[in-house]
Amino acid sequence: MKRRNAQTSIRGPVLSWPSRTWRPGERSATPEDIVALERFGGTGEHRLVHGSAEGVADALSREGFMGKVDLVYVDPPYASQTDYVHEARLDGRADGRLRRSAAYEDHWAEKDGGTGAYLDMLAPSLDALTSLLGPRGTIWVHVDWRASYLVRTVLDEIMGRDAFLNEIVWRRAPNLGRQAASSQFGRTLDTIVVYGRPDAVLVPPLRMEPIEPGAIRRDEQGRPFTVAPRGDYTDASIARLDQEGRVHRTASGKVYIKYFLVENADGVLCRERRVDALWTDVPALRHAPRSEPTGFPTQKPRALLERIIASATPPGGLVVDAFAGSGTTGEAAYVLGRTAILSDAAPAAINVARARMLRAGAALSVERLSGSPVPPRVEAAVDARRSAGRMHVSLVRPEEPAAWAVGTLERGVFRATWHSSRCPGKPTIPARTECETDAGATVARVYDDAGGVAEVPLTGKVAMRESGPGHARTLLGAGE
Ligand SMILES: C[S@@+](CC[C@H](N)C(=O)[O-])C[C@H]1O[C@@H](n2cnc3c(N)ncnc32)[C@H](O)[C@@H]1O
Repeated sequence: MKRRNAQTSIRGPVLSWPSRTWRPGERSATPEDIVALERFGGTGEHRLVHGSAEGVADALSREGFMGKVDLVYVDPPYASQTDYVHEARLDGRADGRLRRSAAYEDHWAEKDGGTGAYLDMLAPSLDALTSLLGPRGTIWVHVDWRASYLVRTVLDEIMGRDAFLNEIVWRRAPNLGRQAASSQFGRTLDTIVVYGRPDAVLVPPLRMEPIEPGAIRRDEQGRPFTVAPRGDYTDASIARLDQEGRVHRTASGKVYIKYFLVENADGVLCRERRVDALWTDVPALRHAPRSEPTGFPTQKPRALLERIIASATPPGGLVVDAFAGSGTTGEAAYVLGRTAILSDAAPAAINVARARMLRAGAALSVERLSGSPVPPRVEAAVDARRSAGRMHVSLVRPEEPAAWAVGTLERGVFRATWHSSRCPGKPTIPARTECETDAGATVARVYDDAGGVAEVPLTGKVAMRESGPGHARTLLGAGE
């Protein structure tokens, strides 16, 4: 069955690789559905799905999202041949205990140098995701030198060459250490390839560029400005700018353009400049606020995603990230008042992104693609005590979960009435170990850093541990 795609007639070279069976626009022969698992209250309405990018995108199409999405941002594996490890800091940011667990693998079969196997995953995923784009929608694919040339060619084939909008270069690191000492120019850049539907309009933000005091002039009303040569402005444009009071003529009659200045937060006079495709002003994650790094490898800074979302979507717009990792896109979308659909194939990523969205205050539906593997089991134990219409629940084991929640089960879907998660950057104790909730709570769910989940009933199969009515202790592993 055809999915749509191929918006234009301008086509370029087509990639061929030995294992290629993908043909643009073809749906999976065995479609899977997305099923709800958990609901958490909050504001907005966001989704987090455990499943492969291609499967989730296809399922969303069948749910009616085809042509409805304003922005697809993806930061897939880059074919780096690396196994990535999640590092949870249990005692805050700087020192202390680290809990390491597998996050995801970026290894591809050696045949064809790994590139063919990588493309077998990436090309159908991008194809399925582009079918979600609305008439003004754009897809942003964040990679590096290892994959950017492949992504361009694949997206040319899927969307047509004239759907290309930008190749943004983000300087993600300074040229230091091994990079600087190598016999090449430092590979300190990531590439974000942007393609759009025919009506796509990007709104690049303005950035503030401080102006040297010697280059600042003042007009008759005392307004500060600086000047620049007229460049390629036509005579007609100069006449228009002249009417706006934006032309400066030297004594010899030479024409310059005036740029009025504004003060930045530090009171420094700046010229506002529209951001171009070279992004050197978005700091790496290590310069982000202490609360931001989650320990998930390859996490991107929220400021980067905020820039992308703000320039590519209208307020209230719909954003999809199907390689969501720690959920940076989701948090940025929530903060900017957009709606996010996130998904990832790794259970560890789902646990990190869930906790992150909930810490931000988002309402979240956690779901899974029907064929996805079940997350690993976690052994958990809770104490539950009812009194005066309230339920007092303490987590006995594990001592330092990544997060846990208490709620009810409604037709198989967990509805949280309380939840807590470890805060990155904060010293010690994780998720709080006690909660008080209304007496209707029937289940606790416990999450670890490796992606494991336990579901512990608070009623039914329990053993009385202490005297007194309604005090129960359960000691059950997930699924028991
Ligand atoms: C580079 S990381 C994303 C990091 C993310 N942008 C962030 O800021 O945290 C890539 C993610 O893609 C996921 N992934 C790899 N292959 C996938 C697939 N076929 N479908 C869905 N997710 C996949 C990995 O589990 C990993 O979380």
